Amino acid sequence: MAGSPASLLDELTLGRAVELESLVDRGALREMAESTRQLFGASIRIYSQAGNLLADASSRPALYALLDQHESGRAALVAVISAVKSLDPEPEHQADFSCVTGARYLVAPISYDGHALGRLILGPYRLPDTQPSEKLRELAPGLDRQAVQGAWDDLPALTDQQAHRVVRHLSGALDLILFSGHKALLTSNMHLASVQESYRELADKNAKLQHAFDRLKELDRLKSNFLGTVSHELRTPLTSIIGYSEMLREGIAGELTAEQKEFVQTIHEKGEQLLELIKGLLDLSKLESGTMSLRKSEIDVVPVVTDVAQTLAPAARKKGVEIAVRSEPGLPTVWADAERLRQVFLNLSENALKFTPAGGRVALTVAASMIERRADDEGRGLVLFSTKRPAVEIRVIDTGIGVPDTEKEKVFDAFYQVDGSATREHEGTGLGLSIVRRLVEAHDGTVRVEDNSPMGAVFVVTIPCRRTTIA
Ligand SMILES: Nc1ncnc2c1ncn2[C@@H]1O[C@H](COP(=O)(O)OP(=O)(O)OP(=O)(O)O)[C@@H](O)[C@H]1O
Ligand SMILES: [Mg+2]
Repeated sequence: MAGSPASLLDELTLGRAVELESLVDRGALREMAESTRQLFGASIRIYSQAGNLLADASSRPALYALLDQHESGRAALVAVISAVKSLDPEPEHQADFSCVTGARYLVAPISYDGHALGRLILGPYRLPDTQPSEKLRELAPGLDRQAVQGAWDDLPALTDQQAHRVVRHLSGALDLILFSGHKALLTSNMHLASVQESYRELADKNAKLQHAFDRLKELDRLKSNFLGTVSHELRTPLTSIIGYSEMLREGIAGELTAEQKEFVQTIHEKGEQLLELIKGLLDLSKLESGTMSLRKSEIDVVPVVTDVAQTLAPAARKKGVEIAVRSEPGLPTVWADAERLRQVFLNLSENALKFTPAGGRVALTVAASMIERRADDEGRGLVLFSTKRPAVEIRVIDTGIGVPDTEKEKVFDAFYQVDGSATREHEGTGLGLSIVRRLVEAHDGTVRVEDNSPMGAVFVVTIPCRRTTIA
């Protein structure tokens, strides 16, 4: 009824329709009906509100089997059964039904918290000390009188008072079962509601996070564009500063005093340093925007690594650190931009040298390896056969200060340095590794950092070979 206060059941079941079978286990209903039948002898059936038979503790009376043999008797039985089934007693009331055969039924509603949930039917039974009616004999005129008498005597005999008591007893027991079933249903509904609520909250938070993530991505893109533009604009005047300081140093604008030369030399050196930084920023912005063009070809990695070691050899010697290259023979070529790969290994080796104290060692090793195929790899169909493709693995190993576990991912972020303090011992801006990772990824490769035992770091770069052969 619109506007009427919702019943307790409606409120706590979240407005869902409640059925007898969802509140009470069918097995329990059957057992209850069966034990009542055994006690009082009369058949019991329990129907849901929709008319489904949920429990049936009955046996076919011999009387009905007899009547079934005659057409008029059969028709009378069908009429009896449909009349009993359509009985719909008021809540809290029981309906007696006396059929043409003289047998009786008692129907009682099953309800809970004002909701009609079903019906229970007791019968057929006969009143004690009664005889088969004449009407019954008329229904099946050809029947043997003795057989009818025997079948009649076979019907369970109950007084109406007893029948009402049995039904009341059953209804009471059902009420108890409904109460506990209701409790279980409520508990599970409460649980469901709280899960739904947490899910809704999560979905809400997720949407907010996604929004924040999109916004950050957009800011990151703007930052890259900004860095790219500023770096580009800085490069032109800086090239002039370097060029003019070089000319001054060479004495093109007249001889300089020793002190002037020293000043100009510093201007030149710092200019070069600044230029390197600007180049790094430009590289990063190009890599982030995907506009860096790579000139890839089939290349042998060993000469690139050897060249890097040779470039750093003087600095290493000066610092008292040993630098060496080790490679295995018969390595495959990789599909890469040699100049960019050189930049990768130079960055890693410079770091290794920078973070390794005097007396330490830096080793660059090259070996054949395999790399996980990426989802967008060329020759996607082959993924069915193999998830790996051949690659070359380059390790830059040092015996320096190492990278703590918590920093192993972060060191690849732009401008991130393990020691971010103003008083840090080592120079640098924290751009090297972010450029390394992006360059390696532009080659479909991977880079990670591991520990070197007992001390130091190992940067492992894996660059795939071009052809996707089946392993
Ligand atoms: N071989 C290494 N051993 C120990 N720590 C390292 C090593 N390589 C890198 N790191 C740590 O990772 C940080 C980031 O390295 P990255 O190369 O990006 O920056 P940087 O060397 O400090 O500056 P830049 O390369 O821009 O001159 C370093 O500051 C250092 O803390
Ligand atoms: Mg570096």
